[in-house]
Amino acid sequence: MPQANQPNKSVNKPSRRQFVKTASVAAAAGAAAMSTELPIAHGFHHSVDDTLKVGLIGCGGRGRGAVVNATHADKNIKITALADAFKDKVDETRELLNIDIADFMDVKDDHCFTGFDCYKQLIDTDVDVVLLCSPPFFRPWQMEYAAKKNKHIFCEKPIATDAPGIRRVMEASKKCMENGKSLVSGLCWRYDLGVNATMNQILEEKAIGDITAMEANYLTGELWHRGSKPDWSQMEYQMRNWLYFNWLSGDLIAEQHIHTLDKCLWLMGDEAPVRCYGLGGRQKRIDSKYGNTYDHFATVYEWANGIKAFSHCRQMSGCWSENECNVFGTKGNAHILKHVVDGEMEWRYTDRKRSMYDVEHDQLFKSIRNGEPINNGDYMCKSTMMALMGREASYTGQEILWEEYLTDDAMVGPAPEEWKWGDYDAGPVAIPGGRS
Ligand SMILES: NC(=O)c1ccc[n+]([C@@H]2O[C@H](COP(=O)([O-])OP(=O)(O)OC[C@H]3O[C@@H](n4cnc5c(N)ncnc54)[C@H](O)[C@@H]3O)[C@@H](O)[C@H]2O)c1
Repeated sequence: MPQANQPNKSVNKPSRRQFVKTASVAAAAGAAAMSTELPIAHGFHHSVDDTLKVGLIGCGGRGRGAVVNATHADKNIKITALADAFKDKVDETRELLNIDIADFMDVKDDHCFTGFDCYKQLIDTDVDVVLLCSPPFFRPWQMEYAAKKNKHIFCEKPIATDAPGIRRVMEASKKCMENGKSLVSGLCWRYDLGVNATMNQILEEKAIGDITAMEANYLTGELWHRGSKPDWSQMEYQMRNWLYFNWLSGDLIAEQHIHTLDKCLWLMGDEAPVRCYGLGGRQKRIDSKYGNTYDHFATVYEWANGIKAFSHCRQMSGCWSENECNVFGTKGNAHILKHVVDGEMEWRYTDRKRSMYDVEHDQLFKSIRNGEPINNGDYMCKSTMMALMGREASYTGQEILWEEYLTDDAMVGPAPEEWKWGDYDAGPVAIPGGRS
């Protein structure tokens, strides 16, 4: 039987009522998790036979974090396989995890996989759960293969970097549902207890009356750059520095700002916006080492009911920062990450907090143990769509309609048969309106 966070049967048209159910059940699940020291599926008898085997694809910072979150969620798991494009990342991760979570590690040499096909080799082992934590470009093929091979999936955001990738993930998500397998998204704020409680105030308690507009900001400093080495091919350079190549990351609007766009989607009952326009560019990160991504975007999304989200993201040091979704209503305003409602009905969230990263894994493993699969496919596809249509609107300088972008055939990166080390031209920095 499906449970909380399951997408609606129609990929495109969930109702507000369905959201409220999702949010309140997620909040209730969170409250249950808070009330216990060990948030695992209680009442489930653990034996060696019950051990869930977990494999990680993408052995970077988030991947290692996700593995640790999984060990907090369920004490009867083993990490049995690791995969990464690069051997040094598999080796580093295996070494670090062997120190940090030694009791959970059972990764043999022949379960360490590298290269472009590493995801297939890992999925072909007897793992029960796969954690998809590589750069997003590769996710659609990883999702497709994992769903085909009947695995439970934790899938980091964003889920693709172009519309064909999104459609591939939509299909894979349906397959997970048909197979009765869980699919949990790394859009972690959906599992944050304070955010759930605040959403509940807005959407169920009507604490700010009717929503009139949203202001979605992810304004932050610059992120890492991993330099270059003489023996790296162009493809290796780009994959090591994947943030700066839009075919790999989706650009910062998808790679980072998606968290804020997803809150707007959630506020709109997971109803997709109908159109967007936007602008953006690069002012500070102009060196060629930064590939072809922008360093700021301003995008406006409009829903069928006329409500708009005004959205800004920037990665520039020395500037004012804000990571927040401010919501304006007929009776007051709310600030989602501050967990605050102002206006006619003042409200603050004060309960004890638990890491949202842990909660998403609590829910994933609990759903597996209870045989009640979660499927977050709907919103993770839609929020990726929002980010990518915003990117395309800003790159081109054109208005983009949801229905148009949904059927867009342009692929931003190479097809799997072309994945190889060597030269790769990622294309120029986009100029709105063209170069003439
Ligand atoms: N939910 C969150 O709050 C959150 C936080 C950080 C990162 N993320 C997401 O997690 C993902 C990974 O981010 P990260 O910070 O760990 O990056 P990272 O660079 O530290 O790790 C990515 C790893 O994937 C590997 N990789 C590259 N291409 C691969 C391929 N084809 N197959 C397998 N592995 C491949 C890289 O070598 C690297 O080790 C991204 O999608 C990112 O947006 C989410």
